[in-house]
Amino acid sequence: MPIIGIHQECERTGDSSKCHVMYYELMLCVIPTLEQTTCLGGLILPVKREVIPAHNNPKRRPWWAWWPLLLGLGLLASPPRLYAADLNEPIKPLPEVSYDPGKVALGKRLFHEPRLSRDNTIACASCHALDQGGVDRLRVSKGVGGAEGGMNAPTVFNSGLNFRQFWDGRAGSLEEQADGPVHAAPEMASSWPEAMTKLKQDPEYQRAFTALYPTGMTPQTMKDAIATYERSLVTPSRFDKYLRGEATAITAEEKQGYELFKSYGCIACHQGTNVGGNMFQYFGVMGNYFQDRGNITEADYGRYNVTKKEQDRFMFKVPSLRNVALTPPYFHDGAAKTLEEAVAVMAKYQLGRTMPEQDRSVIIQFLRSLTGEQLEATTSNKSAHK
Ligand code: HEC
Ligand code: HEC
Repeated sequence: MPIIGIHQECERTGDSSKCHVMYYELMLCVIPTLEQTTCLGGLILPVKREVIPAHNNPKRRPWWAWWPLLLGLGLLASPPRLYAADLNEPIKPLPEVSYDPGKVALGKRLFHEPRLSRDNTIACASCHALDQGGVDRLRVSKGVGGAEGGMNAPTVFNSGLNFRQFWDGRAGSLEEQADGPVHAAPEMASSWPEAMTKLKQDPEYQRAFTALYPTGMTPQTMKDAIATYERSLVTPSRFDKYLRGEATAITAEEKQGYELFKSYGCIACHQGTNVGGNMFQYFGVMGNYFQDRGNITEADYGRYNVTKKEQDRFMFKVPSLRNVALTPPYFHDGAAKTLEEAVAVMAKYQLGRTMPEQDRSVIIQFLRSLTGEQLEATTSNKSAHK
């Protein structure tokens, strides 16, 4: 470890025991020697020049007299890894992932493949646009022939980290999830055999599947490739750096927003690696959201549609809040147009509190720090609400 210290140098008068000007220098010594202030390799930066009155001429101190300062500065200068450990927080940093690059590339092609839909017009990416935070930014999605589904599209980014898929959790895996849109009448209105018949005529697909899977192109391998691609879509953010111990990766205001996010109780539901996506909860714990909104549809029944148990009515998978700044409008019904509106609804109906505007905007600062750094750079923000 290099030694840092203050080095003083004396400009002497004719009388060699007296200094009349003292130079203070900051010394970064890479190869220190035992000799006074000498140093074999290093850097010296001038700090201060002081004229010493003749009667107050100090004796020159040996270099080791500066050891407390040396130690202090040395610790400060030591690389941050020394005190950077994963913080023990209810939100965890994203894991580093690596998947078979061939499968990821094939999955990416399939994700953008309109031939998966009946009339060759709609791809997964039509509703999950990767340059728009992985969503379509519509209140509810539109599929083949402009047919409207009853729900807002969640993002595909980090979807591999959700404990189940869909707002009502009806799919247990991404592979199972992919069956949904391909068959759904208001989405792709097709089937795997139908899509396969079309793609088998494409020698490039044939070649890619045979190279990667012993069974070649089948509904299973198509789903495997798509799911592998989706699992690769993780979006590390500045907040992940903060969680890994880089204290300055987020601003003071974002940090304050995180503290409010915890103290208000948002963290009770939005937590873990995906800041959500790991439990079901009622929408309207502290108030009747659906009655206040009116016009209740079957989609609002949530988890009940899967289990048919009365206690699951109006229960939903808590969504991930990663990249949430990029994915308006919000909620399964797309009813909240802005993040401000969504946070206010959460405070009121999930926590039974009215939140001062100031707190809300600071919490939103924190939520913005969850935007993946890569996405920040590549996302078109034209229709995202500020
Ligand atoms: C017509 C628009 C549309 C198309 C096309 C579409 N999706 Fe979706 N996707 C949605 C909507 C809407 C939901 C939410 C539906 C629900 O929860 O019931 C959803 C949910 C998902 C989810 C669950 C995410 C979560 O957090 O629960 C994943 C993953 C996903 N889609 C991937 C895909 C893949 C892969 C394809 C292509 C095979 C695809 N989607 C095609 C609109 C679409
Ligand atoms: C009791 C559990 C719970 C608490 C507490 C909670 N949420 Fe939520 N949150 C949910 C659920 C469930 C949804 C999905 C609701 C729906 O659309 O059906 C949601 C949705 C959201 C959304 C919309 C996400 C999207 O992609 O549509 C945001 C933003 C959000 N919550 C932020 C917050 C904030 C900020 C707080 C604290 C003020 C908070 N939540 C407190 C359970 C909770």
